[in-house]
Amino acid sequence: MAGTTNERARKAAEGLAYASGFGNEHSSEAVPGALPVGRNSPQRAPLGLYAEQLSGSAFTEPRRHNRRSWLYRIRPSAAHPPFARANRGEIRSAPFTECLPDPNRLRWNPLPEPADPTDFVDGLWTLGGNGDATQRAGMAVHLYHINAPMERRVFGDADGELLIVPEHGGLLLRTEFGLLRAEPGHVALIPRGVRFRVELLADTARGYVCENYGRPFELPDLGPIGANGLANARDFLAPTAAYEDVEGPVEVVNKFGGHLWTATYDHSPLDVVAWHGNHVPYVYDLRRFNVIGSISYDHPDPSIFTVLTSPSDTPGLAGVDFVVFAPRWLVGEDTFRPPYFHRNVMTEYMGLIEGAYDAKTGGKGGFVPGGGSLHNMMSAHGPDRETFERASAAELAPQKIDDGLAFMFETRWPLTLTPQARDAGHLQRGYDDVWQGLQRHFRP
Ligand SMILES: [Fe+2]
Repeated sequence: MAGTTNERARKAAEGLAYASGFGNEHSSEAVPGALPVGRNSPQRAPLGLYAEQLSGSAFTEPRRHNRRSWLYRIRPSAAHPPFARANRGEIRSAPFTECLPDPNRLRWNPLPEPADPTDFVDGLWTLGGNGDATQRAGMAVHLYHINAPMERRVFGDADGELLIVPEHGGLLLRTEFGLLRAEPGHVALIPRGVRFRVELLADTARGYVCENYGRPFELPDLGPIGANGLANARDFLAPTAAYEDVEGPVEVVNKFGGHLWTATYDHSPLDVVAWHGNHVPYVYDLRRFNVIGSISYDHPDPSIFTVLTSPSDTPGLAGVDFVVFAPRWLVGEDTFRPPYFHRNVMTEYMGLIEGAYDAKTGGKGGFVPGGGSLHNMMSAHGPDRETFERASAAELAPQKIDDGLAFMFETRWPLTLTPQARDAGHLQRGYDDVWQGLQRHFRP
């Protein structure tokens, strides 16, 4: 049954066309003439559609932060029955108060596959987070390992945007704005409030999700780097409009104020025929990231690998950054080339999409694709013993790091675990051991 649905999803994902550009005004119409010209809300919208604005920022925020889209839909979103509380599954939300913030370095193996058919909504498993969803501050780290498509079911998150990082198995995201295909190595972003359904492009899918309660992710400023580099705006792909004209019961799950609420609509809310705006979902291929680094000695702080940043009210201080460690050349002379030992005022959750990460030798039970590590604020970390010994003795010829794709959700506040993450069977015991046996080499 799942195979049939996956086949349908695969077919639907073929030949998707996109508008490109980050944060720009886009427009798309699935039926010619559906998009009004010259005004957002004409007396009568074309083709008998309803006009509706979806705001992703306060109306009055500065233009560079202002997000909104106009949707032209078969029925207005307002036409729905009451929502009822429906907490279930293993998704949790900020504030995270059940565990104490833990200064220990922690690492997990991949989330196990569920025994029963599990879709994206039921499969979201929360590791932890910080802030408060109702204050639009902080973030949560979720993982998923799923084996069923969402059927007659749609999800939307009023608490934050969802940055989805597939690690195994592609996803087809049917959104109000159209279809997005997100394969391992891509990231997909669903803005706050946008409804979507997740189908699978393989029998199972596994990955990571950053739920960002704060300001929407944007491209970082480039400063002296100049006009080009890091993630280029043109590589962010928005969907083209595609709508469902479907009657009959569809469950709409809404995450609001940290809880799930559900209502059964008599039609699919993915009924947007045309849209324009800049509060739109997108996908980005991490392999298009333009990696910048040192060509003399040392290496820059990992902020040089920032793909997306969610700014706070303090200039330069992000609520959360999304950082990628992509294939790159290392050429620094007289330089310890792997990531250095450090203690960071920010909190680092790292995941691995494929291959290996150059600060950890990995291997069985190490830092593996689908797994993750948490280095909370000020916890000391860096290369493991084997990496330190090898890199300290290595001959420093130009070297290509070519076999890994790792990422980091870096956040300004300590990350507090959920009880299920603290007690998980897939939490590795003895992660501290990777730093044991670091020899003293001091020779006064
Ligand atoms: Fe770090």
